[in-house]
Amino acid sequence: MRTSFPKHKIKAVLVEGIHPAGVGLLRDEGFQVEALPSSPDPAKLAKLVHDAHLLGIRSKTDVTAAILDAAPRLLAVGCFCIGTNQVALSHAAHQGVPVFNSPFSNTRSVAELTLAEIIALYRRLTEKSGLMHLGQWDKSAAGAHEVRGRTLGIVGYGHIGSQISVLAEACGMRVLFYDIVSKMPLGNARPVKTLNDLLKDSDVVTLHVPATPLTERMIGPAQLKRMKPGASLINNARGSVVDVDALAAALKSGHLAGAALDVFPVEPAGKGESFESPLRALPNVILTPHVGGSTEEAQASIAEDVATKFIKFVNVGTTTGAVNVPEVELPEQAIFEEPSARKPAGQRRHRILHFHRNVPGVLSKMHTLIAQLGANISAEYLRTTEDIGYVVLDVDPTDGEKVLARLKTVPETIKVRLLW
Ligand SMILES: NC(=O)c1ccc[n+]([C@@H]2O[C@H](COP(=O)([O-])OP(=O)(O)OC[C@H]3O[C@@H](n4cnc5c(N)ncnc54)[C@H](O)[C@@H]3O)[C@@H](O)[C@H]2O)c1
Repeated sequence: MRTSFPKHKIKAVLVEGIHPAGVGLLRDEGFQVEALPSSPDPAKLAKLVHDAHLLGIRSKTDVTAAILDAAPRLLAVGCFCIGTNQVALSHAAHQGVPVFNSPFSNTRSVAELTLAEIIALYRRLTEKSGLMHLGQWDKSAAGAHEVRGRTLGIVGYGHIGSQISVLAEACGMRVLFYDIVSKMPLGNARPVKTLNDLLKDSDVVTLHVPATPLTERMIGPAQLKRMKPGASLINNARGSVVDVDALAAALKSGHLAGAALDVFPVEPAGKGESFESPLRALPNVILTPHVGGSTEEAQASIAEDVATKFIKFVNVGTTTGAVNVPEVELPEQAIFEEPSARKPAGQRRHRILHFHRNVPGVLSKMHTLIAQLGANISAEYLRTTEDIGYVVLDVDPTDGEKVLARLKTVPETIKVRLLW
Protein backbone atom coordinates (compact mmCIF):
# COMPACT_ATOMS: atom_id res chain seq x y z
CA MET A 1 0.00 0.00 0.00
CA ARG A 2 1.30 3.48 -0.92
CA THR A 3 1.33 6.40 1.46
CA SER A 4 2.25 10.01 0.84
CA PHE A 5 5.40 9.56 2.85
CA PRO A 6 7.96 7.08 1.48
CA LYS A 7 7.97 4.05 3.74
CA HIS A 8 11.73 3.73 3.73
CA LYS A 9 11.86 7.09 5.49
CA ILE A 10 9.69 5.86 8.37
CA LYS A 11 12.06 5.17 11.25
CA ALA A 12 11.11 2.85 14.08
CA VAL A 13 13.19 2.78 17.26
CA LEU A 14 12.56 -0.39 19.26
CA VAL A 15 14.19 -0.83 22.68
CA GLU A 16 14.25 -3.55 25.36
CA GLY A 17 14.87 -6.49 23.06
CA ILE A 18 11.49 -6.60 21.34
CA HIS A 19 10.86 -10.02 19.81
CA PRO A 20 12.26 -10.44 16.25
CA ALA A 21 8.75 -11.23 14.97
CA GLY A 22 7.83 -7.55 15.39
CA VAL A 23 11.12 -6.24 14.00
CA GLY A 24 10.63 -8.47 10.94
CA LEU A 25 7.10 -7.24 10.25
CA LEU A 26 8.20 -3.60 10.32
CA ARG A 27 11.24 -4.28 8.10
CA ASP A 28 9.07 -6.25 5.64
CA GLU A 29 6.82 -3.20 5.44
CA GLY A 30 9.83 -1.19 4.27
CA PHE A 31 10.37 0.81 7.46
CA GLN A 32 13.85 1.46 8.88
CA VAL A 33 14.23 -0.26 12.24
CA GLU A 34 16.80 0.47 14.91
CA ALA A 35 16.49 -2.24 17.57
CA LEU A 36 18.26 -2.09 20.94
CA PRO A 37 18.54 -5.05 23.33
CA SER A 38 18.04 -3.02 26.52
CA SER A 39 16.36 0.10 27.88
CA PRO A 40 18.46 3.23 27.19
CA ASP A 41 18.85 5.91 29.85
CA PRO A 42 16.66 9.02 29.33
CA ALA A 43 19.45 11.06 27.70
CA LYS A 44 20.18 8.31 25.16
CA LEU A 45 16.49 7.72 24.53
CA ALA A 46 15.95 11.43 23.85
CA LYS A 47 18.71 11.29 21.23
CA LEU A 48 17.34 8.12 19.67
CA VAL A 49 13.83 9.51 19.23
CA HIS A 50 14.74 12.89 17.75
CA ASP A 51 14.10 11.62 14.20
CA ALA A 52 11.92 8.58 15.03
CA HIS A 53 8.39 8.11 13.71
CA LEU A 54 7.64 5.05 15.83
CA LEU A 55 8.89 4.19 19.31
CA GLY A 56 8.52 0.64 20.66
CA ILE A 57 9.18 -0.08 24.34
CA ARG A 58 8.38 -2.69 26.97
CA SER A 59 7.77 -2.10 30.67
CA LYS A 60 11.18 -0.77 31.74
CA THR A 61 11.36 2.37 29.58
CA ASP A 62 9.67 5.54 30.75
CA VAL A 63 8.33 7.66 27.92
CA THR A 64 7.97 10.93 29.78
CA ALA A 65 6.65 14.25 28.50
CA ALA A 66 10.30 15.30 27.99
CA ILE A 67 10.98 12.27 25.77
CA LEU A 68 7.83 12.98 23.74
CA ASP A 69 8.87 16.62 23.38
CA ALA A 70 12.26 15.44 22.08
CA ALA A 71 10.52 13.49 19.28
CA PRO A 72 8.93 16.03 16.91
CA ARG A 73 8.27 13.47 14.15
CA LEU A 74 6.77 10.82 16.39
CA LEU A 75 3.60 9.25 14.97
CA ALA A 76 2.94 6.52 17.56
CA VAL A 77 4.29 4.74 20.65
CA GLY A 78 3.92 0.98 21.02
CA CYS A 79 4.09 -0.73 24.41
CA PHE A 80 5.11 -4.28 23.51
CA CYS A 81 3.56 -5.49 26.77
CA ILE A 82 0.28 -5.13 28.67
CA GLY A 83 0.74 -2.05 30.85
CA THR A 84 0.98 1.53 29.58
CA ASN A 85 1.66 3.38 32.87
CA GLN A 86 5.25 3.98 31.78
CA VAL A 87 4.06 6.41 29.08
CA ALA A 88 2.85 10.00 29.63
CA LEU A 89 -0.44 9.06 27.95
CA SER A 90 -2.24 12.37 28.13
CA HIS A 91 0.80 14.31 26.91
CA ALA A 92 1.08 11.91 23.96
CA ALA A 93 -2.64 12.32 23.20
CA HIS A 94 -2.27 16.08 23.16
CA GLN A 95 0.51 15.70 20.60
CA GLY A 96 -1.69 13.47 18.40
CA VAL A 97 0.46 10.44 19.22
CA PRO A 98 -1.53 7.24 19.77
CA VAL A 99 -0.15 4.73 22.28
CA PHE A 100 -0.78 1.06 21.49
CA ASN A 101 -0.33 -2.03 23.66
CA SER A 102 -1.21 -5.70 23.47
CA PRO A 103 -3.53 -6.69 26.29
CA PHE A 104 -4.64 -10.07 24.98
CA SER A 105 -1.67 -11.68 23.22
CA ASN A 106 -0.77 -13.78 26.25
CA THR A 107 -4.25 -15.17 26.85
CA ARG A 108 -3.32 -18.69 25.78
CA SER A 109 -0.21 -18.73 27.99
CA VAL A 110 -2.25 -17.88 31.10
CA ALA A 111 -4.92 -20.43 30.16
CA GLU A 112 -2.35 -23.20 29.72
CA LEU A 113 -0.64 -22.39 33.03
CA THR A 114 -4.02 -22.53 34.76
CA LEU A 115 -4.85 -25.92 33.24
CA ALA A 116 -1.43 -27.25 34.28
CA GLU A 117 -2.06 -26.03 37.83
CA ILE A 118 -5.50 -27.63 38.06
CA ILE A 119 -3.96 -31.00 37.23
CA ALA A 120 -0.88 -30.41 39.40
CA LEU A 121 -3.04 -29.53 42.41
CA TYR A 122 -5.18 -32.65 41.98
CA ARG A 123 -2.08 -34.87 41.71
CA ARG A 124 -0.17 -32.97 44.43
CA LEU A 125 2.65 -32.79 41.88
CA THR A 126 4.74 -30.09 43.53
CA GLU A 127 4.73 -32.00 46.85
CA LYS A 128 5.71 -35.28 45.17
CA SER A 129 8.45 -33.58 43.19
CA GLY A 130 9.71 -31.73 46.30
CA LEU A 131 10.01 -35.02 48.21
CA MET A 132 11.90 -36.65 45.34
CA HIS A 133 14.38 -33.76 45.35
CA LEU A 134 14.91 -34.51 49.05
CA GLY A 135 15.59 -38.16 48.16
CA GLN A 136 12.20 -39.46 49.41
CA TRP A 137 10.30 -42.08 47.41
CA ASP A 138 6.64 -41.79 48.47
CA LYS A 139 4.75 -43.98 46.01
CA SER A 140 1.19 -43.51 47.20
CA ALA A 141 -2.15 -42.75 45.56
CA ALA A 142 -3.53 -41.07 48.69
CA GLY A 143 -4.79 -37.57 47.97
CA ALA A 144 -4.13 -37.84 44.21
CA HIS A 145 -7.12 -37.53 41.85
CA GLU A 146 -8.06 -37.28 38.20
CA VAL A 147 -9.62 -34.01 37.07
CA ARG A 148 -12.11 -35.83 34.84
CA GLY A 149 -15.65 -35.33 36.13
CA ARG A 150 -14.65 -32.52 38.54
CA THR A 151 -16.34 -29.12 38.42
CA LEU A 152 -14.31 -26.07 37.51
CA GLY A 153 -15.73 -22.67 38.49
CA ILE A 154 -14.43 -19.79 36.40
CA VAL A 155 -14.88 -16.25 37.75
CA GLY A 156 -14.63 -13.80 34.83
CA TYR A 157 -15.46 -15.37 31.45
CA GLY A 158 -13.40 -13.03 29.28
CA HIS A 159 -10.43 -13.78 27.03
CA ILE A 160 -8.62 -16.03 29.51
CA GLY A 161 -11.61 -17.48 31.38
CA SER A 162 -13.32 -18.62 28.18
CA GLN A 163 -10.10 -20.25 26.85
CA ILE A 164 -9.75 -22.24 30.07
CA SER A 165 -13.36 -23.28 29.71
CA VAL A 166 -12.54 -25.00 26.41
CA LEU A 167 -9.31 -26.60 27.67
CA ALA A 168 -10.93 -27.88 30.88
CA GLU A 169 -13.87 -29.44 29.04
CA ALA A 170 -11.42 -31.20 26.74
CA CYS A 171 -10.01 -32.81 29.92
CA GLY A 172 -13.49 -34.02 30.92
CA MET A 173 -14.26 -31.34 33.52
CA ARG A 174 -17.68 -29.75 34.05
CA VAL A 175 -17.47 -25.98 33.72
CA LEU A 176 -19.48 -23.32 35.54
CA PHE A 177 -18.79 -19.64 35.16
CA TYR A 178 -19.77 -16.37 36.74
CA ASP A 179 -19.42 -12.99 35.02
CA ILE A 180 -21.05 -9.62 35.66
CA VAL A 181 -21.67 -9.32 31.92
CA SER A 182 -23.86 -11.79 30.05
CA LYS A 183 -21.49 -14.09 28.08
CA MET A 184 -22.13 -16.78 25.51
CA PRO A 185 -21.15 -20.13 27.05
CA LEU A 186 -18.65 -22.17 25.04
CA GLY A 187 -19.20 -25.92 24.69
CA ASN A 188 -21.25 -27.24 27.61
CA ALA A 189 -20.14 -24.56 30.08
CA ARG A 190 -22.96 -23.22 32.22
CA PRO A 191 -23.34 -19.68 33.58
CA VAL A 192 -24.43 -19.27 37.20
CA LYS A 193 -26.30 -16.31 38.63
CA THR A 194 -24.13 -15.45 41.62
CA LEU A 195 -20.57 -15.86 42.83
CA ASN A 196 -21.93 -17.80 45.80
CA ASP A 197 -23.60 -20.34 43.48
CA LEU A 198 -20.26 -20.87 41.76
CA LEU A 199 -18.30 -21.18 45.02
CA LYS A 200 -20.58 -23.78 46.56
CA ASP A 201 -20.71 -26.03 43.48
CA SER A 202 -17.07 -25.97 42.26
CA ASP A 203 -14.20 -28.32 43.06
CA VAL A 204 -11.67 -25.81 41.72
CA VAL A 205 -12.29 -22.06 41.49
CA THR A 206 -10.14 -20.03 39.12
CA LEU A 207 -10.20 -16.23 39.00
CA HIS A 208 -9.90 -14.23 35.75
CA VAL A 209 -11.32 -10.81 36.56
CA PRO A 210 -9.70 -7.37 36.24
CA ALA A 211 -8.66 -5.26 39.24
CA THR A 212 -11.67 -3.04 39.93
CA PRO A 213 -13.33 -1.75 43.11
CA LEU A 214 -15.85 -4.62 42.69
CA THR A 215 -13.18 -7.33 42.51
CA GLU A 216 -11.02 -5.94 45.36
CA ARG A 217 -10.75 -8.87 47.81
CA MET A 218 -13.76 -10.49 46.17
CA ILE A 219 -12.43 -13.74 47.70
CA GLY A 220 -12.22 -13.19 51.47
CA PRO A 221 -13.06 -15.25 54.59
CA ALA A 222 -16.81 -15.45 53.83
CA GLN A 223 -16.29 -16.60 50.21
CA LEU A 224 -13.62 -19.14 51.19
CA LYS A 225 -16.00 -20.57 53.77
CA ARG A 226 -18.62 -21.07 51.03
CA MET A 227 -16.22 -23.15 48.93
CA LYS A 228 -16.57 -26.94 49.12
CA PRO A 229 -14.37 -28.64 51.74
CA GLY A 230 -11.34 -30.01 49.89
CA ALA A 231 -11.68 -27.56 46.99
CA SER A 232 -8.78 -25.54 45.50
CA LEU A 233 -8.40 -21.90 44.49
CA ILE A 234 -6.35 -20.44 41.64
CA ASN A 235 -5.55 -16.75 41.19
CA ASN A 236 -3.68 -15.88 38.03
CA ALA A 237 -5.59 -12.60 37.62
CA ARG A 238 -4.68 -9.71 39.93
CA GLY A 239 -3.18 -9.67 43.41
CA SER A 240 -5.92 -7.46 44.83
CA VAL A 241 -8.66 -10.04 44.20
CA VAL A 242 -7.80 -12.47 47.04
CA ASP A 243 -7.35 -11.87 50.75
CA VAL A 244 -4.18 -13.95 51.11
CA ASP A 245 -4.27 -14.04 54.94
CA ALA A 246 -7.75 -15.56 54.80
CA LEU A 247 -6.61 -17.99 52.10
CA ALA A 248 -3.60 -19.07 54.20
CA ALA A 249 -5.96 -19.69 57.14
CA ALA A 250 -8.33 -21.76 54.97
CA LEU A 251 -5.40 -23.88 53.74
CA LYS A 252 -3.91 -24.36 57.21
CA SER A 253 -7.28 -25.43 58.64
CA GLY A 254 -7.58 -28.04 55.88
CA HIS A 255 -10.82 -26.52 54.52
CA LEU A 256 -9.09 -26.00 51.18
CA ALA A 257 -6.86 -28.74 49.71
CA GLY A 258 -4.63 -26.51 47.62
CA ALA A 259 -4.06 -23.24 45.85
CA ALA A 260 -2.04 -21.78 42.99
CA LEU A 261 -1.14 -18.11 42.83
CA ASP A 262 0.77 -16.14 40.23
CA VAL A 263 -0.16 -12.64 41.46
CA PHE A 264 0.05 -11.09 44.91
CA PRO A 265 -1.09 -7.95 46.75
CA VAL A 266 2.57 -6.97 47.16
CA GLU A 267 5.09 -8.19 44.60
CA PRO A 268 8.88 -7.75 44.81
CA ALA A 269 10.19 -5.00 42.55
CA GLY A 270 12.93 -7.23 41.15
CA LYS A 271 15.18 -10.25 41.56
CA GLY A 272 17.06 -8.87 44.57
CA GLU A 273 13.96 -8.37 46.73
CA SER A 274 12.63 -11.20 48.87
CA PHE A 275 9.09 -12.48 48.34
CA GLU A 276 7.07 -12.28 51.55
CA SER A 277 3.68 -13.96 51.88
CA PRO A 278 1.64 -15.93 54.42
CA LEU A 279 1.30 -18.55 51.67
CA ARG A 280 4.99 -19.46 51.68
CA ALA A 281 5.90 -23.02 52.79
CA LEU A 282 2.31 -24.31 52.82
CA PRO A 283 1.78 -27.79 51.36
CA ASN A 284 0.12 -28.14 47.94
CA VAL A 285 0.39 -24.41 47.25
CA ILE A 286 1.93 -23.47 43.91
CA LEU A 287 3.54 -20.03 43.87
CA THR A 288 4.83 -18.47 40.65
CA PRO A 289 6.39 -15.00 40.18
CA HIS A 290 3.74 -13.33 37.95
CA VAL A 291 4.74 -15.37 34.92
CA GLY A 292 1.25 -16.42 33.75
CA GLY A 293 1.63 -14.60 30.46
CA SER A 294 5.40 -14.96 30.16
CA THR A 295 6.18 -17.35 27.34
CA GLU A 296 8.22 -16.92 24.19
CA GLU A 297 5.06 -17.52 22.16
CA ALA A 298 3.30 -14.69 24.00
CA GLN A 299 6.30 -12.41 23.38
CA ALA A 300 6.17 -13.19 19.65
CA SER A 301 2.42 -12.70 19.57
CA ILE A 302 2.67 -9.34 21.41
CA ALA A 303 5.38 -8.19 18.97
CA GLU A 304 3.26 -9.12 15.94
CA ASP A 305 0.17 -7.49 17.42
CA VAL A 306 1.79 -4.12 18.23
CA ALA A 307 3.83 -4.03 14.98
CA THR A 308 0.59 -4.65 13.06
CA LYS A 309 -1.10 -1.79 14.94
CA PHE A 310 1.86 0.47 13.98
CA ILE A 311 1.59 -0.54 10.31
CA LYS A 312 -2.18 0.01 10.17
CA PHE A 313 -1.85 3.42 11.76
CA VAL A 314 1.00 4.55 9.52
CA ASN A 315 -0.54 3.24 6.30
CA VAL A 316 -4.26 3.68 6.82
CA GLY A 317 -4.78 5.83 9.94
CA THR A 318 -6.49 3.13 12.02
CA THR A 319 -6.22 3.74 15.78
CA THR A 320 -8.04 0.60 16.96
CA GLY A 321 -6.37 -0.59 20.17
CA ALA A 322 -4.98 2.84 21.09
CA VAL A 323 -5.29 3.55 24.81
CA ASN A 324 -5.08 7.36 24.83
CA VAL A 325 -6.82 8.66 21.69
CA PRO A 326 -10.19 7.89 20.08
CA GLU A 327 -10.29 4.54 18.29
CA VAL A 328 -11.15 4.71 14.57
CA GLU A 329 -11.23 1.52 12.48
CA LEU A 330 -10.75 2.36 8.81
CA PRO A 331 -11.32 0.44 5.61
CA GLU A 332 -8.32 0.09 3.32
CA GLN A 333 -9.80 2.10 0.50
CA ALA A 334 -8.69 2.21 -3.09
CA ILE A 335 -7.72 5.84 -2.68
CA PHE A 336 -4.09 4.83 -2.56
CA GLU A 337 -2.84 5.09 -6.11
CA GLU A 338 0.28 3.58 -7.64
CA PRO A 339 2.73 6.40 -8.49
CA SER A 340 2.47 5.58 -12.21
CA ALA A 341 -1.31 5.99 -12.07
CA ARG A 342 -1.15 9.13 -9.99
CA LYS A 343 -3.15 12.04 -11.29
CA PRO A 344 -1.66 15.55 -11.27
CA ALA A 345 -1.95 17.61 -8.09
CA GLY A 346 -5.43 19.01 -7.81
CA GLN A 347 -7.10 15.90 -9.24
CA ARG A 348 -6.11 13.33 -6.67
CA ARG A 349 -8.05 11.61 -3.92
CA HIS A 350 -6.59 11.85 -0.45
CA ARG A 351 -7.04 10.64 3.08
CA ILE A 352 -6.46 13.21 5.79
CA LEU A 353 -5.83 12.22 9.40
CA HIS A 354 -6.63 15.01 11.83
CA PHE A 355 -6.21 15.09 15.61
CA HIS A 356 -7.77 18.11 17.26
CA ARG A 357 -8.90 19.50 20.57
CA ASN A 358 -12.48 18.42 21.01
CA VAL A 359 -14.32 21.75 21.19
CA PRO A 360 -17.56 22.69 19.44
CA GLY A 361 -17.26 23.99 15.87
CA VAL A 362 -13.95 22.38 14.81
CA LEU A 363 -15.51 20.13 12.20
CA SER A 364 -17.53 22.88 10.61
CA LYS A 365 -14.36 25.01 10.33
CA MET A 366 -12.62 22.09 8.59
CA HIS A 367 -15.57 21.44 6.26
CA THR A 368 -15.67 25.11 5.27
CA LEU A 369 -11.95 25.24 4.48
CA ILE A 370 -12.14 22.07 2.38
CA ALA A 371 -15.26 23.28 0.55
CA GLN A 372 -13.49 26.53 -0.28
CA LEU A 373 -10.94 24.46 -2.21
CA GLY A 374 -13.77 22.89 -4.23
CA ALA A 375 -13.08 19.43 -2.81
CA ASN A 376 -15.69 16.82 -1.99
CA ILE A 377 -15.58 14.85 1.26
CA SER A 378 -16.42 11.32 0.13
CA ALA A 379 -16.11 9.72 3.57
CA GLU A 380 -15.67 10.95 7.12
CA TYR A 381 -14.84 8.90 10.20
CA LEU A 382 -14.95 10.67 13.56
CA ARG A 383 -14.45 9.55 17.12
CA THR A 384 -13.93 11.73 20.17
CA THR A 385 -12.94 11.41 23.79
CA GLU A 386 -13.66 14.13 26.30
CA ASP A 387 -10.82 16.37 25.10
CA ILE A 388 -9.43 14.86 21.88
CA GLY A 389 -11.09 14.35 18.51
CA TYR A 390 -9.76 12.22 15.68
CA VAL A 391 -11.34 12.66 12.28
CA VAL A 392 -10.32 10.91 9.09
CA LEU A 393 -11.50 12.48 5.84
CA ASP A 394 -11.37 10.96 2.39
CA VAL A 395 -11.47 13.91 -0.03
CA ASP A 396 -11.43 14.19 -3.83
CA PRO A 397 -10.39 15.63 -6.16
CA THR A 398 -7.98 18.11 -4.72
CA ASP A 399 -4.42 19.17 -4.07
CA GLY A 400 -3.67 17.51 -0.75
CA GLU A 401 -0.87 19.88 0.17
CA LYS A 402 -3.27 22.82 -0.02
CA VAL A 403 -5.78 21.04 2.23
CA LEU A 404 -3.01 20.22 4.66
CA ALA A 405 -1.80 23.83 4.79
CA ARG A 406 -5.36 25.09 5.38
CA LEU A 407 -6.11 22.57 8.13
CA LYS A 408 -2.94 23.55 9.96
CA THR A 409 -4.43 27.05 10.35
CA VAL A 410 -7.37 25.71 12.37
CA PRO A 411 -6.40 26.74 15.94
CA GLU A 412 -7.71 23.48 17.47
CA THR A 413 -5.52 21.31 15.22
CA ILE A 414 -3.11 19.12 17.18
CA LYS A 415 -1.66 17.13 14.30
CA VAL A 416 -2.66 16.59 10.69
CA ARG A 417 -1.21 14.03 8.29
CA LEU A 418 -1.92 13.35 4.64
CA LEU A 419 -2.11 9.90 3.04
CA TRP A 420 -2.38 9.48 -0.71
N1 LIG B 1 -0.85 -13.61 35.51
C1 LIG B 1 -0.55 -12.93 34.43
O1 LIG B 1 0.60 -12.83 34.06
C2 LIG B 1 -1.66 -12.32 33.64
C3 LIG B 1 -1.54 -12.21 32.26
C4 LIG B 1 -2.61 -11.68 31.53
C5 LIG B 1 -3.73 -11.23 32.18
N2 LIG B 1 -3.80 -11.29 33.54
C6 LIG B 1 -4.99 -10.81 34.26
O2 LIG B 1 -6.04 -11.76 34.06
C7 LIG B 1 -7.30 -11.10 34.22
C8 LIG B 1 -8.25 -11.52 33.11
O3 LIG B 1 -7.70 -11.14 31.85
P1 LIG B 1 -8.56 -11.25 30.50
O4 LIG B 1 -7.63 -10.94 29.40
O5 LIG B 1 -9.33 -12.52 30.48
O6 LIG B 1 -9.56 -10.02 30.74
P2 LIG B 1 -10.97 -9.78 30.02
O7 LIG B 1 -11.23 -8.34 30.16
O8 LIG B 1 -10.99 -10.40 28.68
O9 LIG B 1 -11.98 -10.61 30.94
C9 LIG B 1 -12.33 -10.22 32.25
C10 LIG B 1 -13.75 -10.70 32.51
O10 LIG B 1 -14.08 -10.45 33.88
C11 LIG B 1 -15.42 -10.00 33.94
N3 LIG B 1 -15.62 -9.27 35.18
C12 LIG B 1 -15.27 -8.00 35.47
N4 LIG B 1 -15.63 -7.71 36.75
C13 LIG B 1 -16.22 -8.81 37.26
C14 LIG B 1 -16.78 -9.12 38.51
N5 LIG B 1 -16.83 -8.24 39.51
N6 LIG B 1 -17.30 -10.35 38.69
C15 LIG B 1 -17.28 -11.26 37.67
N7 LIG B 1 -16.76 -11.03 36.45
C16 LIG B 1 -16.22 -9.81 36.26
C17 LIG B 1 -15.58 -9.14 32.71
O11 LIG B 1 -16.93 -8.95 32.36
C18 LIG B 1 -14.80 -9.98 31.68
O12 LIG B 1 -15.64 -10.92 31.03
C19 LIG B 1 -6.99 -9.61 34.24
O13 LIG B 1 -7.00 -9.16 35.59
C20 LIG B 1 -5.58 -9.53 33.73
O14 LIG B 1 -4.88 -8.42 34.26
C21 LIG B 1 -2.80 -11.85 34.29
